[in-house]
Amino acid sequence: MLLLNIHHTALAVADLDVALERFREQYGVEPLYREVVESQGVEEAMIPIGGSHVQLLQPLDRDTPVGRFIERNGEGLHHVAFQVADIESALIHLEQQGARLVDTKPRTGGGGHRIAFVHPEAFGGTLIELVEVT
Ligand code: CO
Repeated sequence: MLLLNIHHTALAVADLDVALERFREQYGVEPLYREVVESQGVEEAMIPIGGSHVQLLQPLDRDTPVGRFIERNGEGLHHVAFQVADIESALIHLEQQGARLVDTKPRTGGGGHRIAFVHPEAFGGTLIELVEVT
């Protein structure tokens, strides 16, 4: 499997406006886009930093994966996303390695990219996302 880049590091935040303002003031950075991704129950913003991004995730509701995450852990690091060249072959490879997958098939994520999540159980409690940039 070929990892091309750390596509983004995702932070769970309670209030996207507050978090974006903080990034603006403290680091002078602006989001590339901001969008609601209903399928994941989040509003997200993607901030480009160097060759990578920070993704901010605000839950649309308390009863969503990110909403429950914040309730359990508070705000903070939610997942790391690796950019891959071919997401289908990456998923097949991981399955062959016995890694537990959240998504066995890619779905459409923010920015229109093809994404899939690998269960945190597969890597010591860290949620990993695969991204194939489209
Ligand atoms: Co992500």
